[in-house]
Amino acid sequence: MEKIRLGPKAHFYPKAACLVCTDVDGTPNYIMVALAGFISKTPPLFFVGIGKGKHTNRGIQESGTFSVNVPSEDMMAAADYCGLASGKDVDKSDVFETFRGQLGTPMIKESPLCIECRVIDNLDYGGKVDIFVGEAVQVYSEERYFTDGKLDADKVRPIHYASPEMEYYGVGKKVGKAKESGKTYR
Ligand SMILES: Cc1cc2nc3c(=O)[nH]c(=O)nc-3n(C[C@H](O)[C@H](O)[C@H](O)COP(=O)(O)O)c2cc1C
Repeated sequence: MEKIRLGPKAHFYPKAACLVCTDVDGTPNYIMVALAGFISKTPPLFFVGIGKGKHTNRGIQESGTFSVNVPSEDMMAAADYCGLASGKDVDKSDVFETFRGQLGTPMIKESPLCIECRVIDNLDYGGKVDIFVGEAVQVYSEERYFTDGKLDADKVRPIHYASPEMEYYGVGKKVGKAKESGKTYR
């Protein structure tokens, strides 16, 4: 079938849907982000893209830390609220229960996977966002999200964001085993 040209748009699947948390003036603030991911395994480096005018942006600049919190499906509505309301207008600190990491970074107790990062770089490509690169200093989870000593996506039940449709999806069913499935290809 013939390819149609969509133009230089930021279309991609799957996009992250996770919550970034930082202190702003000493109060935890949560923001929903799609611009998030990891850029290196060793050292463990993560990035988040935060709009220049966002309340969160000032908090990260001033505190030098942020956390990336993976929401499970049942946190979806509360997480989406954190993508609608700004900490400039409302106090979002009671949307989730906060715990603090070893750098004092606020994190979300309800989240199955929380990554505490120290900012090591701030990249500005001239757009509307700052890309903060953070080195993970600690990662937090709970026994109940593990199977056979490993994190289990079926238990974490993360969500991802599809745009331009603007829908949240669950992860869906397991379709193969990495570094195994390819062995039978040829
Ligand atoms: C699905 C979704 C993805 C979003 N992704 C981002 C993002 O990657 N970066 C960003 O700065 N804002 C993103 N936003 C918008 C912010 O979450 C929103 O503007 C929020 O109210 C800002 O909060 P704050 O001002 O308290 O920091 C997203 C919103 C939604 C609903």
